[in-house]
Amino acid sequence: MSQTLRFLRRFISAPQAIGSIVPSSPALVDAMLEKIVWSRVNTVAELGGGTGVITAQINGLRSQDSRFLCFENDSDMHLDLQQKFSDVILEEDAIQLKHTLERHRIPGLDCVVSGLPLLNFSSTVRRRLLSDIHESLNPGGLFVAFQYTRQLQAFLLSTYDQIERHYVWANVPPAFVFLCRK
Ligand SMILES: C[S@@+](CC[C@H](N)C(=O)[O-])C[C@H]1O[C@@H](n2cnc3c(N)ncnc32)[C@H](O)[C@@H]1O
Repeated sequence: MSQTLRFLRRFISAPQAIGSIVPSSPALVDAMLEKIVWSRVNTVAELGGGTGVITAQINGLRSQDSRFLCFENDSDMHLDLQQKFSDVILEEDAIQLKHTLERHRIPGLDCVVSGLPLLNFSSTVRRRLLSDIHESLNPGGLFVAFQYTRQLQAFLLSTYDQIERHYVWANVPPAFVFLCRK
């Protein structure tokens, strides 16, 4: 089964949790990752790996001795990611980011890449997760997230030292990419 069809089937069974109909387009994946200086990234986490379109790129770009944690809590997609990426640390619930980092004895992250449907989370969970992401980043660390609206922009502007926003038309649906530097 193609990645797109697999993703669509998961969307139909759990639309709120999956958050989009199809995986991110190559243009969106590029916009998410092109500004990251991989030689400076020792620890990276991806939140919401899906079928792995961003995971595959991160895995190809990161330095060999870096650590890469990918969170995906849909059991089918989690299993699939585990089979595809044996060198990636696969975890389940991104909401457990802080505990997971403690468990792996990772004191801080240089980069967090998120494809999570954050606006589908309850506001309490979303606030706590966004605050945990910010706390988990090392000074100078980068939080990269795509979203279909600008609803999180005010929060990101008030939390991060530098923000860049890009709009990617070539995606279904078109998406904003936020690059946020701590
Ligand atoms: C919009 S899709 C993005 C998938 C992929 N990153 C991409 O760009 O194609 C969001 C993904 O986040 C996952 N997800 C939702 N809530 C999650 C959570 N609490 N922890 C981990 N993954 C989650 C969904 O299962 C889905 O695969």
